[in-house]
Amino acid sequence: MRVLITTEQIHARLDEMARQIAPEYHGQPLTIVGVLTGSVMFLADLVRRLDMPLRIGLIQASSYRGAVSGELRIDASLLADVRGRHVLLLDDILDTGQTLARLVQHLHEQGALSVKVAVLLRKQGRQVHPVNVDFVGFEIPDAFVVGYGLDYNDEHRQLPYVAVLSS
Ligand code: IMP
Ligand code: MG
Repeated sequence: MRVLITTEQIHARLDEMARQIAPEYHGQPLTIVGVLTGSVMFLADLVRRLDMPLRIGLIQASSYRGAVSGELRIDASLLADVRGRHVLLLDDILDTGQTLARLVQHLHEQGALSVKVAVLLRKQGRQVHPVNVDFVGFEIPDAFVVGYGLDYNDEHRQLPYVAVLSS
């Protein structure tokens, strides 16, 4: 495994992202929604940098790319009502954009006042589903990465850094 982004780099970038995000929601009802499971580290570390009233929600999206190409199932059973609230959707990585595009649409359908998106990582040259991303932690090359929430086969999520998985 080769470390791509160190713990120190992640934390420094999260400081900057929090400073960018906070003024956007000054005095507004905000729910930060993390996409399970990959966003949990990002969510926990980002919200602790936001000194403002907010709620935390969780949503799950699973894709069955093997069986039916592109089918995505959304489980929002853990998410409290977002009607009348601004939503900031957090995910670990923007790859093709399919997951976030569907989730943004879902949250609008649920009556969110606005939906913005923050991702820790954006993979270059991979987006095919248009989705507007408002806050990006790091642009990364097209490689498979793990750590800091990102998994391979549900493992390696606990690593405190982002690494390229070598075979
Ligand atoms: P998208 O819907 O194609 O944008 O895929 C997004 C999801 O694919 C992310 O939430 C991740 O769970 C997963 N994913 C994409 N690239 C990687 C990677 O390099 N490492 C780990 N998971 C990834
Ligand atoms: Mg994921």
